Amino acid sequence: MMNIGMLTGGGDCPGLNAVIRAVVKRGIQLGHEFTGIKEGWRGLLEKKTMKLDAGSVSGLIHLGGTILGTSRTNPFKNEKDAEQVIRNINELKLDALVCIGGDDTLGVASKLNDKGIKTVGVPKTIDNDLTGTDFTFGFDTAVGIVTESLDRLHSTTESHQRVMVVEVMGRHAGWIAVYGGLAGGADVILIPEQPFDIDDVCKHIQNRRSAGKNFSIVVAAEGATPKAAGMITKEKELDAFGHVRLGGIGEFLANEIEKRLKFESRFVVLGHLQRGGTPTAYDRVLATRFGVKAIELLHEGIYGRMVALQGNKIVDVSLHEATSKLKTVDMEMFRTAQIFFG
Ligand code: F6P
Repeated sequence: MMNIGMLTGGGDCPGLNAVIRAVVKRGIQLGHEFTGIKEGWRGLLEKKTMKLDAGSVSGLIHLGGTILGTSRTNPFKNEKDAEQVIRNINELKLDALVCIGGDDTLGVASKLNDKGIKTVGVPKTIDNDLTGTDFTFGFDTAVGIVTESLDRLHSTTESHQRVMVVEVMGRHAGWIAVYGGLAGGADVILIPEQPFDIDDVCKHIQNRRSAGKNFSIVVAAEGATPKAAGMITKEKELDAFGHVRLGGIGEFLANEIEKRLKFESRFVVLGHLQRGGTPTAYDRVLATRFGVKAIELLHEGIYGRMVALQGNKIVDVSLHEATSKLKTVDMEMFRTAQIFFG
């Protein structure tokens, strides 16, 4: 029997609660018990815990957010915090950790594993940019929200003969922009992987007008970068993992397009709507399969791994490998989306 700690770190994501539920329910069947760590790595630094048993995970599968809370705390920012986390893990008598998070959270899990703490990671991010897994849970929900938003924006944009720039999440990778944009019939998709020229975007919109299409929808990932202006950020300050706060590309682009083409333009920032609320059926199922695999790995004495989806199989990959580089957009996929930029 093990006492297993579980935490959720980084930006929240639909499906986190489904993972927590799956880990605890399957873990209890296997004879283990659980300690919930509140607010990500901050909870391990400050010893903030909560009970996690069959009762506390009941009725969670459809709930967005995370009952454990989350933070962007990085205990490896300084050596003292990292040592404190390891001391607290021992004091709380945790035999192993299930860490549910993206690149940053799992990077910490990987370092702790190197220091002898048994950890297993579960890949979470709406951005779908983790290496080693075809998809992360939360992505499907985010794409669904973008698609529905584009459907709604189409009718109003067409009625007013405007250009609508829709800013979606995606810091380093444009997966949400490509899948959401393709599903929602976007006329231009801009992604962080390919810095773009504003003149090319304008030319494309102008060509559509000349062909009789009096409106255009541009989907821009928040990390999409105009070649001349560089990345658009909200503020210059960095968070604990060294990231700036992005945002503003939608407004910037709408203004530029209006200035250059004299076509009335608007922008919409979908922002945290993409992360909030109830997960899709796909994400609930994926999150549940990930949770079951994570606890079964620990039960078998396997750690230093991240559960992953490859094809339709749930497998495990090394935490090192998964956090060594980001998974950027498959250019073949982007090319398919580009075919429809009519
Ligand atoms: O979850 C990842 C992400 O969606 C990024 O695309 C985005 O830059 C970031 O979260 C913003 O999160 P927050 O506003 O919560 O810091």
